[in-house]
Amino acid sequence: MKFINYAILLASLIEVAVSLPLSNFSQFPFDINPQNLTFAAVRAAPVNWPTPILNKNWTGVSLDLNATVDYGVSLIEKAAANGASAVVFPECWFPGYPKGYDENDWMTTHIADYIANSLEVGSHNWNKLLQAAAENQVFVAFGFSEKNDEAIYMAQALVDPLGTVLIQRRKLRPSGTERLLWSDGSRNGMQVASTFLGRFGLLECWEHFHPSMTFPMWSQTEDVHFASFPYMPDENDSEALWWESAEVNHAAARTYAVNSGAISIVPAVGRAVVYNGNGVLLAEMNASESMEENPILYVSGINATLFHDVNFNINSEASWGILEQIVDNYPDNIPRVTGTYVNAVTNPISALLAA
Ligand SMILES: *[C@@H]1O[C@H](CO)[C@@H](O)[C@H](O)[C@H]1NC(C)=O
Ligand SMILES: *[C@@H]1O[C@H](CO)[C@@H](O)[C@H](O)[C@H]1NC(C)=O
Ligand SMILES: *[C@@H]1O[C@H](CO)[C@@H](O)[C@H](O)[C@H]1NC(C)=O
Ligand SMILES: *[C@@H]1O[C@H](CO)[C@@H](O)[C@H](O)[C@H]1NC(C)=O
Ligand SMILES: *[C@@H]1O[C@H](CO)[C@@H](O)[C@H](O)[C@H]1NC(C)=O
Ligand SMILES: *[C@@H]1O[C@H](CO)[C@@H](O)[C@H](O)[C@H]1NC(C)=O
Repeated sequence: MKFINYAILLASLIEVAVSLPLSNFSQFPFDINPQNLTFAAVRAAPVNWPTPILNKNWTGVSLDLNATVDYGVSLIEKAAANGASAVVFPECWFPGYPKGYDENDWMTTHIADYIANSLEVGSHNWNKLLQAAAENQVFVAFGFSEKNDEAIYMAQALVDPLGTVLIQRRKLRPSGTERLLWSDGSRNGMQVASTFLGRFGLLECWEHFHPSMTFPMWSQTEDVHFASFPYMPDENDSEALWWESAEVNHAAARTYAVNSGAISIVPAVGRAVVYNGNGVLLAEMNASESMEENPILYVSGINATLFHDVNFNINSEASWGILEQIVDNYPDNIPRVTGTYVNAVTNPISALLAA
């Protein structure tokens, strides 16, 4: 049975696996070698973010969006100078992930300041990041706490080397208690961008655990996946809670890499890793390494001529047919009731400030 499955899989791969000819890259105006791309994963902390990694004491500490955007731009410049074609930032790095917001008095003492330092699309700071991508001729994928008039969102953007925004999304359903702070995104944000280097996609943190978020991405066949986590301790850190441990989170990122077959760049403040599409560790830097001396993890040797440039594979495990099969085969003993969990949640800023 297994043999037959592999035969079908192989047949479908042969059908879709049309490697990109080198001439495809001739439109690329910049000085890169598509057979040996370098990508950069930021592991430095945002400005004023309490360190070490698991320190959640925010007493007397305020995040600073302006200073963090300037620091982020300097990291983009540094990575580009070191040959990177893409620079990827952790989740909510602008202005910083408020670790421990649900364990102490952060909500009453810091929420107004956090909203004020969240990033507005189209703002001066937003434009600085787009401009940094263009001036340094790199892709930039960044995680930010997005603010609009109504609410804040856990957002991500992918900008190309011309400064054009290719993907702008909000986490579909913030995880756990995050959902009391940030509002839900929409499914339309789960899109893979077809770029002149390959198909790039992004998700953040626990989205990598949830089939409603992973499945639509796997269906779109990514070549490179940017998996942003907020912060990551080293393995075996006895201070880490189970849900923030490297073991748990990197298990999700690694499983994602195998299911998507995409090279997965996994930035986080602290420990950053890169897996190839077989789930093999290509690069790592431990949380115990200095974030000042080594703010960026690099991975080289990415051969874009091996990318497939296929929008979807209807004969794969992540396809419309399989989705239908999940519905059709859903066990009869489970009631066909929608429940309230999937309803979109919006936390108005006025309510957050009144809490
Ligand atoms: C690929 O690029 C890296 C970083 O620039 C370099 O160290 C390495 O030697 C290159 N590999 C090949 C096969 O050219
Ligand atoms: C948190 O930091 C403040 C200011 O540095 C300090 O006074 C306080 O003792 C710290 N709290 C804990 C639990 O370490
Ligand atoms: C951030 O920078 C903008 C533009 O330079 C400025 O108007 C604003 O006052 C700054 N915010 C803070 C908190 O310094
Ligand atoms: C990272 O730390 C682990 C132990 O937690 C160790 O086995 C590994 O060699 C370290 N890796 C690097 C690159 O220092
Ligand atoms: C992890 O921690 C346990 C107990 O604290 C220890 O026995 C084990 O050797 C550690 N493993 C690594 C890889 O450091
Ligand atoms: C990149 O992949 C192509 C196949 O598409 C291969 O011919 C080439 O040798 C690879 N380049 C490197 C540096 O490994």
